[in-house]
Amino acid sequence: MTIDQLKSQIEEIINRLEGETLIDTNVKSKYLGKKGLFNSLVKEIRNIEGSDKKEAGQLFNQLKETLETKLSNISQTKKVVDIDFTMPAEETKVGHMHPISQAMEEITSIFEKIGFTRSRYPEVDWDWYVFESLNMPPSHPARDEWETFFVDTPEEVSEVSYDASNPRKRHPSLVGGKMVLTTHTSNGQVREMERLKNPPIRMINIARCYRRQQDATHTQMFHQFEGLVIDEGINIQNLKGTLDYFAKEFYGEGTKSRIRPFHFQFTEPSFEVDFSCHICSGTGIKDGDKCKFCKSGWHEVGGAGMVHPNVLKAGGIDPEKYTGFAFGWGVERTYTLKEGLNIDDIRLLYSGDLRFLKQF
Ligand code: PHE
Repeated sequence: MTIDQLKSQIEEIINRLEGETLIDTNVKSKYLGKKGLFNSLVKEIRNIEGSDKKEAGQLFNQLKETLETKLSNISQTKKVVDIDFTMPAEETKVGHMHPISQAMEEITSIFEKIGFTRSRYPEVDWDWYVFESLNMPPSHPARDEWETFFVDTPEEVSEVSYDASNPRKRHPSLVGGKMVLTTHTSNGQVREMERLKNPPIRMINIARCYRRQQDATHTQMFHQFEGLVIDEGINIQNLKGTLDYFAKEFYGEGTKSRIRPFHFQFTEPSFEVDFSCHICSGTGIKDGDKCKFCKSGWHEVGGAGMVHPNVLKAGGIDPEKYTGFAFGWGVERTYTLKEGLNIDDIRLLYSGDLRFLKQF
């Protein structure tokens, strides 16, 4: 090979590199790799005349340098060219809170606005807090409605029998007792009294509850929220005012609350609480027919009442000086009555089905 032939081959290689599409990622090894174009040309040095070998060596060195600079320019340009700014961006998947968690946050903030504080109490608790301190001594028939899943903990049998004037006698820390999966959030009542010791108390306790039930409107695990207010001079008007306030905040202007006489062991007097139906505005009639959503103009959400003196005593609070009210409702029940939700089977809420959950 003559030096001129070599020169023209070198020129050819450089031209080729010049015309390289910038997308070829193997381009570097094609030119400078072990079996690349540069190496195969270098082998030609043996066919070059002795007197030209020196010049040829210089030409190879130059070629190598040129290739290296050009290739590093290519890879720098390539990085920029790789991004097509006109491509539509890939949507980032963002999760959101479960509808029941959203409802709990909303409920909490509604009550916080009027001075309630959220407390958290055990969801597996002593029989004492779930039943006995709430004026339901062992074997009391009122327990039948609630009794549920007991936990296999060794039961300490007490010799002290129930004494309504001093329910503290059977406090578990003194005498032990059984543990139960809480059937209601009312277990937080005496716990809150023990925590704060002195009124005023304005508690909102939201927690899981468990009952022996399962159908379209009940699940074995569900959530309740419990309100408890204790201070001097608290009366039913304060309770009713709080219910009306919640109804308006949660369901919207124009929603009313209603209380009907009922019985709970731990409140006296006791009530069931209803909210007016937003479909028929509490009339029970929609388009000349019975309202299909509520049938009566009202939806029942749960219980309420004035805290029973025995419960105050169990919490170490003087019932001569203080009075209080309490209420306890299902979160799922309260939430699914919201306008426009139309959830007719609450088990869907726990199905984990994203097609359902994504809608909230
Ligand atoms: N704990 C009652 C229930 O689960 C509700 C309730 C709470 C009633 C507080 C009165 C006062 O149905």
